[in-house]
Amino acid sequence: AAGRRPLVAGNWKMNGDLKLASAMQSALQDADLTDLDVVVCPPFPFLASFDSDKFALGAQDLSHFESGAHTGEVAAGMLREVGCQYVIVGHSERRTDQQESNELVAEKVAAALGAELTPILCVGEPLPVREAGDELHYVSAQLDAVVTRVGAPQLSKMVIAYEPIWAIGTGNTATPEQAQDVHAHIRRHLSKANAEAAAGLRILYGGSVNADNAVQLFAQPDVDGGLIGGASLKKDDFLAICQAAK
Ligand code: G3P
Repeated sequence: AAGRRPLVAGNWKMNGDLKLASAMQSALQDADLTDLDVVVCPPFPFLASFDSDKFALGAQDLSHFESGAHTGEVAAGMLREVGCQYVIVGHSERRTDQQESNELVAEKVAAALGAELTPILCVGEPLPVREAGDELHYVSAQLDAVVTRVGAPQLSKMVIAYEPIWAIGTGNTATPEQAQDVHAHIRRHLSKANAEAAAGLRILYGGSVNADNAVQLFAQPDVDGGLIGGASLKKDDFLAICQAAK
């Protein structure tokens, strides 16, 4: 919307295998992906098996360290070397499973930006916060931690994904109006820090997006595409969602 190029990213989470990687590579390579950016985010071991000039590659996480004695961690520079242009940061599953704090997420965004990777920063409230009507404050605090760390001008090098936790993997998609309300709030909130960057910022919706509900969600003025979980593992569904974003 408003001159922003749509973006659809597929977050495979801890799913898939080399066979799916190869099938997805061919399907996307053969598809018409003009007029939008498509990003595939498979697990780390499969990243290097992709090679495309039609779609981009993203990782699902990175280390906030640059290198060194940090067993099991993967650095931003390594992701660049295997062809990543994007990296998901602060997914709610990591905030929960790995106890990633707003501050750690901010460090990771800084590490991504330092290596010229585009962070896809995930924000979104759990159900009790939504039920208390406090989702806008909650999301603002998640954003503020990052803006404080990296500085508002860096927003022009980022993508934001709004993923209400109650909508992730539940089939319980936010309504287009619920998504639009929070997306508009995010843009308004960030425009206080940097109006120009906020106007150009792509804000993706994530949470039970499928081939049927994508058109209506993406039609909202402040929804600039989607971060897709389950449906990104099925090539026909993922392609249909990509077409819906055009
Ligand atoms: O990052 C994508 C995500 O959390 C949404 O997952 O399966 O509800 O589309 P899903």
